This record gives sequence, structure tokens and C-alpha cells, in this order.
Amino acid sequence: MARSALLNVMVQAAMKAGKSLTRDFGEVQNLQVSLKGPGDYVSQADRKAEKIVREELLKARPTYGFLGEESEEIKGTDGSHRWIVDPLDGTTNFLHGIPVFGVSIALQRGSEIVAGVVYNPASDELYTAEKGGGAFVNDRRLRVSARKNLSDSVIGCGVPHLGRPQHGKFLVQLRHVMGEVAGIRRMGSVAIDLAYVAAGRLDGFWEEYLHPWDYAAGIILIREAGGFISGMKGEADFLEGGDICAGNEHIHKALLDVANRPVPKA
Ligand code: IPD
Ligand code: CA
Ligand code: CA
Repeated sequence: MARSALLNVMVQAAMKAGKSLTRDFGEVQNLQVSLKGPGDYVSQADRKAEKIVREELLKARPTYGFLGEESEEIKGTDGSHRWIVDPLDGTTNFLHGIPVFGVSIALQRGSEIVAGVVYNPASDELYTAEKGGGAFVNDRRLRVSARKNLSDSVIGCGVPHLGRPQHGKFLVQLRHVMGEVAGIRRMGSVAIDLAYVAAGRLDGFWEEYLHPWDYAAGIILIREAGGFISGMKGEADFLEGGDICAGNEHIHKALLDVANRPVPKA
């Protein structure tokens, strides 16, 4: 599998940040048992990982813009390229010693995402994709699942929690979806969820009220693995929208239909 120079830069940045997160994850597991808990420590680990990614990417392409979760946006003098980065997606898992989290890096050209990397340092799984080149986990080519029916499908989702909006709306969606599928999963990292859809592990996924850095890399992973991803209304222009639905051609459509069913009358 040949990677472009740009994708190599992204991979290096993700792996360097991943090493730093791995060291900090070990420490978090020790801090679990302390009274103060690992909260502050995790915020520092998060910011440190973003600094590493940001320095690596801007060193390689100083004129590109940079949108990361943990720092001020840099507009960049090159108006057509922007990095979109979540240095630690799955913070709650990380904080609780659950090894499902990742570094997510996407490259936007114009209005399109043209390359993406998601790295889970705990499982050493590196997901990569670039436009026209296919999607991979490490060296293995990815393909979305071939299931045609929701009744055979395992569907991932995000569950709102304290401080997040629309608990009632989510419960209505869940009520509709859970009655039609073989299983529901809540992994706790959108970046990993979307990589799992690309890998055919999850047949579909939906979540609302996200940010572009949560799913920008996932967009190209899924499309290059032959899948579909859109906003919750099926719209193709959803990068800034925050709502996403993904799957293969059949499951993406079926999931949109079921999740958008109106609230049942009492
Ligand atoms: C969160 C995770 C989680 C999702 C949340 C995200 P963070 O990102 O992806 O799975 O349900 O909506 O905000 O805070 O861990 O970077
Ligand atoms: Ca995130
Ligand atoms: Ca994050």
C-alpha cells in the first residue's frame, strides 16, 4: 500500500501523539485508585497530544489552516487546505482506563475531506484513507459490511449524558432503532466508531450534536471503504452540521428512515 507524502505526515503525527497518550494512559490507570482521580492529568494529556499533532502538521505544511479541539483555530495563508484534529477522541474512556480512544486527523481541501487517519494506540490499529486510494487498517484493505437488513445489523450510536442536550429525542430514536436491529453498541469514541463502520465491524452508526473534529477523518474512511455517510436528514453537506448517519448503501438508508420516525403519540 503506497501512501502519499501528505498521508505519511498525518500518520507520523498521529503515531507520535499516540505514543504520548499511551504513556499517559498507563499513568491514568494508576491514578484511578487515588482520591483526587486523574481528571486534571487527562486534560494535560489531551492538550499535550494536540500540541504534538499541531507542531508536526504545521512543520510539514506551514501555510495550511488548523482546526483542533484543544486550541485556537489557525486560519492559514493557504485558503484551500485545513487540518481538522481531535487529539484524543474518547476522553471519558481514557479517563476511566477503558482502552477505546483515538487520535483523529483529517485534511480538508476546499469543501472536501481528502485524507484521514484514526489511530488507536491501545490496540495499535492505524486506520488511513485518502481520496481514490482506498481505506486501510494497518496494511489491510477495508470494506464496509455487506449486510442488507437492519435485523442482522449491529449499530453504533452516541448516548447523550450530563451536560449534553436532547436526551428525550435520543430515547425516541433509540426506541425506534432498537426494535429493528440485532444489537446496539456505544463504544465512546466517534472516531473509532466510524473506523469500525469502515472495517465492517459495525454495520451502521448515528449520533447528533458532534463537532467536525469528531468525524472529519471518519468521513473519508467510510467513503473509501465503499460506505455512505451523511447528516441525519441525508444531506451530503454536513461537515459543520454535527449530526451524522453512516453505513453501507442499504443500512445507511434504512437507519435514516428508522431513526427519523416521528415521536409516537402517547
Ligand atoms: C466524544 C466522543 C464520544 C461522543 C461525544 C464526543 P471527546 O468526543 O467521541 O463518543 O459520544 O459526543 O464529544 O470529548 O472524547 O473528544
Ligand atoms: Ca471528540
Ligand atoms: Ca477530544
